Amino acid sequence: MKKIEINTSFTAYESVEELPQDVQDLMHKAIEVRKNAYAPYSKFRVGAALLLDNGKITLGSNQENAAYPSGLCAERTAIFHSNSIYPDAKIVKMAISATSDTNPTLSPTPPCGACRQSISEYEFKQNTPIEIYFMGESGEVYKSDSIKNLLPLTFDKNFL
Ligand code: THU
Repeated sequence: MKKIEINTSFTAYESVEELPQDVQDLMHKAIEVRKNAYAPYSKFRVGAALLLDNGKITLGSNQENAAYPSGLCAERTAIFHSNSIYPDAKIVKMAISATSDTNPTLSPTPPCGACRQSISEYEFKQNTPIEIYFMGESGEVYKSDSIKNLLPLTFDKNFL
């Protein structure tokens, strides 16, 4: 028997203004597209912006449905859209911002488990890490250098 320890690490920025300029721009796009969330049920709005290695920026916001599981998170909306339009482009950076209409979210809001699995699929596909920056409505921004920090012990195609 042995104990296995897995370490993950993140970088915490005090605010958007502390981010490198290109990431600030990307985060402002995530904040902007957050307004387009269709979230009549949760009132929780999420925006995601992806910077691709071809220089393009692709966006997504969460889209809900009266049949709740039929909705989709902002991160997967952005990733699936991006890969539909630019299937050969690599995702270099991802910015996520989330808040609630009823109770403004001030702590960094990480992607949910299903989105982590989807981000992982594309990181694995492109074989280069995706930088992930996430925040609430305002305040601190956390950066993960790769999805691996958010999803250790990843299930990928090697297990199939
Ligand atoms: N949501 C996202 O868009 N991304 C996440 O990673 C967490 C949750 C959305 C889904 C749903 O529309 C609302 O937030 C509440 O869960």
